[in-house]
Amino acid sequence: MLPIDSEIITAIQQAKHIAVLTGAGISAESGIPTFREAQSGLWAQYDPEELATSQAFQKNPKLVWEWYQWRNSLVEESAPNPGHYALAELEQAVNKLTLITQNVDGLHAKAGSQNIIELHGRINRYKCSVENTIIKTWHSTEIPPRCPNCNAFLRPDVVWFGESLPHSAIERAFSASEKCDLFLSIGTSSLVHPAASLPIVALENHTPVIEINPNPTPLTRYAWKTVQQPSGKVLPLIVNMLK
Ligand code: OAD
Repeated sequence: MLPIDSEIITAIQQAKHIAVLTGAGISAESGIPTFREAQSGLWAQYDPEELATSQAFQKNPKLVWEWYQWRNSLVEESAPNPGHYALAELEQAVNKLTLITQNVDGLHAKAGSQNIIELHGRINRYKCSVENTIIKTWHSTEIPPRCPNCNAFLRPDVVWFGESLPHSAIERAFSASEKCDLFLSIGTSSLVHPAASLPIVALENHTPVIEINPNPTPLTRYAWKTVQQPSGKVLPLIVNMLK
């Protein structure tokens, strides 16, 4: 069994408001490749950072659409892992927990978490690329399909590099990071802002930050505690130790 520092358990038990930030790493054990690891198969030659932009979509809408369809198929085949379930259980066990996620896979909601802020949208939701309205059904057979209202291409409702985050989501995320008295950063490379600024806001308020990630990140040296193990192993242990 992994040793979990008993100070971590005490801090969780005593916290009045825990903010949790998750990234692609928490879904790795559900079989969804993280953003920065090499891609497999047909997509190995492409860099996700070069596909997830509006410039890429303008240049080659079919390629970007198909890449998202592939990623969405991985999400559809996947299920929450013990890390997602443990966070849903943790929410019930503590006073207050705000779960802020950069993931677009919807697995936190599937696992039963309630108070979720999705910073980067949802991969299985679509919007008009011009009007930005959510589109639920369409008849177009083109790739990408076209908006039934204005005929522009549809695109996934995710945030691309260079785009702003949904206003209310980012506002609520900063507010929770300011007000919390314990911050958990789980499975994120802490490279992409503004999400990567959230633990910094906590640190500026002298709020302890715990990082769970098998690999070091730019946040590691500032964290109060670091657990360098997969979140699917660590989180269930933590939740068990609270009982
Ligand atoms: P990254 O792919 O950048 O980082 C994933 C992190 O998860 C890495 O630090 C890994 O070490 C860690 N990791 C891998 N396996 C893990 C496991 N089993 N348990 C815990 N951690 C594990 O993903 P994000 O930080 O989420 O944005 O990337 C941030 C954003 O960059 C994404 O939301 C996406 C991307 O561009 C948009 O799409 C806008």
